[in-house]
Amino acid sequence: MAKKIHNAHPATKVVHASVHPLDQEGMANIPVYHTSTVMKANLDDYRNGRGTYDYGRVGTPTSVATETAVADLYRMDDCVATPSGLSAICLGISGVLKAGDHALFPDSMYGSGRRFIDKILPKMGVHVGIYDPCLTAGELKLLFTENTRLLYLESPGSLTFEMQDIPALTQLAHQHDCLVAIDNTWGTALYFDAPRHDIDIVIEAGTKYISGHSDVSMGFVISNGDTATSIRNYAHNTGICVAPDEHYLAMRGMRTMAIRLRQSEENGLALAQWLEQQPEVIQMLHPALPSHPGHHHWQRDFTGSCGLFGFVIDPNIPVTAIDAMADGLDWFGIGASWGGHESLISQGNFKRTITDIPQGTLLRIYAGLENKTDLLNDLQAGFDRMRGANS
Ligand SMILES: Cc1ncc(COP(=O)(O)O)c(C=O)c1O
Repeated sequence: MAKKIHNAHPATKVVHASVHPLDQEGMANIPVYHTSTVMKANLDDYRNGRGTYDYGRVGTPTSVATETAVADLYRMDDCVATPSGLSAICLGISGVLKAGDHALFPDSMYGSGRRFIDKILPKMGVHVGIYDPCLTAGELKLLFTENTRLLYLESPGSLTFEMQDIPALTQLAHQHDCLVAIDNTWGTALYFDAPRHDIDIVIEAGTKYISGHSDVSMGFVISNGDTATSIRNYAHNTGICVAPDEHYLAMRGMRTMAIRLRQSEENGLALAQWLEQQPEVIQMLHPALPSHPGHHHWQRDFTGSCGLFGFVIDPNIPVTAIDAMADGLDWFGIGASWGGHESLISQGNFKRTITDIPQGTLLRIYAGLENKTDLLNDLQAGFDRMRGANS
């Protein structure tokens, strides 16, 4: 079974990974073990740590099933589940750095992760460098020091959707004996093949497409070899663990991930193509549109686009008109996060320290699983309201 899973297409893997009914009385889905204590047959077994499991926090058949499934999906050695995407970012970074190391992060990194590297990493004695996500390898090379141990990527960047030159930046990092981590929440294992791109540490917010129904907070850190050992030890030594019901929901969500992602992609592209035609939209931030400046990187490195993208509305349109558009939408909730079943709209509220923020109102759309025409009609009615409020 394990060998077959290894060679399967990711769309097959999400359906079959960690499914072993005959090992669990024929039950189709993974049993949910609620436990802290794991009993041993006798004191000698306890003393010598015999048996597969020792303590609920450190692992149960439920947590191992999820972690194995995600590791299989990425064709990497190990995956550690964490209680949120943010904690996965923190673990993936802290698990491989020590005091005195230098690490490089893109200015467009996910905002809460950025607060971690700005506020917490320096207290751990790590030197943080921020770089423009659009730098070429030749330009980024100038920022490496002899202590640079981690290059962090996020492509596309959060809210501003810059595409990075992943192969060139990864090659550069490896020439400097430096690990490469990527936040792959947008691409997922289905649309960005991290091991094929020699990525050392993959971070994915399981809150988004893997769980997929806006009811789970979870993260995953996936890696190989000694890096995986360091990350798992760090997780064990800091008590990182996830409750069994969350594991179960994540696995249940993962089974339909491939078709959800496809529908979300299709809806997202249709909405982005429509928005691009509207005179009030001065910039589209969707890597799969040929007009995106990083489109060639997306086309080369990714096999699809998810349903999350941004667009910028003309700064001359008053906020009241934009609110009239968004507040009256029937099928787009107003809220944070993405990757669930329902469409969402929100406004980018972010800071950059070395790159420019688009001038105008940056809105973000997450295209969910609704009917495409309903979503398009809803947005069209919203733009009519915006025009009415602005006339
Ligand atoms: C790109 C990206 N990475 C990580 C996260 C963090 O995930 P979580 O909300 O589960 O902490 C988010 C959340 O929006 C995100 O957009």
